[in-house]
Amino acid sequence: MRILFTSVALPGHFFPLVPLAWTCRTLGHEVLIAVPDHFAATAVRTGLPVASSGAVPDFVDLQAGKAPPRSFEDGLVEHGEVFGRMAAGQLAGVRTLVASWRPDVVVSERAEFAGPLAAAERGVARAEFQWGIPSLDEYRTGAARVLAAEPGGLGAAGLPQPHLVFNAWPPSLRLAHAAGHRGVRHVAYNGDARVPGWAVAPRRRPRVCVTLGTLLPRLGDAARPGALDRVLSDLRRLDVEVVVAVADDVAARWQPLPEQVAHAGMLPLAQVLPACDVLIGHGGHGTTLTALAAGRPQLLLPRFDDQVDNAGAVAKSGAGIRLYPEETGPGVIAEAVGALLDDPRFGGAAESVAAEIAAQPPLADAAQDILALAG
Ligand code: TYD
Repeated sequence: MRILFTSVALPGHFFPLVPLAWTCRTLGHEVLIAVPDHFAATAVRTGLPVASSGAVPDFVDLQAGKAPPRSFEDGLVEHGEVFGRMAAGQLAGVRTLVASWRPDVVVSERAEFAGPLAAAERGVARAEFQWGIPSLDEYRTGAARVLAAEPGGLGAAGLPQPHLVFNAWPPSLRLAHAAGHRGVRHVAYNGDARVPGWAVAPRRRPRVCVTLGTLLPRLGDAARPGALDRVLSDLRRLDVEVVVAVADDVAARWQPLPEQVAHAGMLPLAQVLPACDVLIGHGGHGTTLTALAAGRPQLLLPRFDDQVDNAGAVAKSGAGIRLYPEETGPGVIAEAVGALLDDPRFGGAAESVAAEIAAQPPLADAAQDILALAG
């Protein structure tokens, strides 16, 4: 059996596909990853076979110089348009791969639309990996608008629907649109960072991990986002050790950092969060699920797209606190982190969500579902 995986060039979108692709491979099937040229080196480091789907502009470049969206919903449609532009750039490459490599199934992350289009044109079965809690229908609206304007981009049938959708969120946190999704256990792939020694040694005082994910630090005020300074200055009020999980080149730009920060650089969150007491994050899919799976409470500071609903679902479960930028006046973050450290109800709720995640069907079941699609 041959399975083609497609993703846009963003780690947060691509990483969730990696454990599933490896599972298919270890079960004896042929796997090929198709990603834009400039992302191929990142994909190759997973050890999976990678083919380029073409030269596609980077998300950050496509966003550069744009005025902020007028509303949250407009922002979603605009991001959908960016993903439509990326799909248009990948379409010829992915069409060629589907025609020549002849996959039995195409599996795409939810914002990659070239894979589903190329698969539908050839009658190939397709599955989607839904990262994030919300339906993000606005992405499809924006992407369809762009692709419809491309010669040969979108037929009258519009964007094809997947035959199967995988969802790694625990059922108690999912929204109504996800009722028919196939549950799958979250397994983190966190890139190629090493596990630091302190993450496998006993800790002497509470440790707080701070991250803005892989994309936010590259958008807007890359010099050093105000959100980070607000968090770090507030944490000075607490007797805690701070570690910052961020790409190494960004960490170098952010120096110097307060003495309280014991580490700043890319950290494998799945191994590091069990060695932390609280996560302060942005509500990104992989980051949030990894903290939940580790049973760690979190303070969520979402900015856009799925981050807002992901954070809302965690807050509703009792495993965390969501704060919007306008709510983070001096002392508020320290107070929230103090509550997450001291009130055992947050940790207890995070532990129950972790148990729910652990009870989801293993990736091997998802691989069987993919094979059944082809059959
Ligand atoms: P995600 O949390 O979805 O957020 P975003 O798309 O905004 O980046 O994806 C980030 C992934 O990268 C997630 O799997 C966690 C991982 N990550 C680390 O493991 N360590 C790090 O230092 C950073 C910055 C990210």
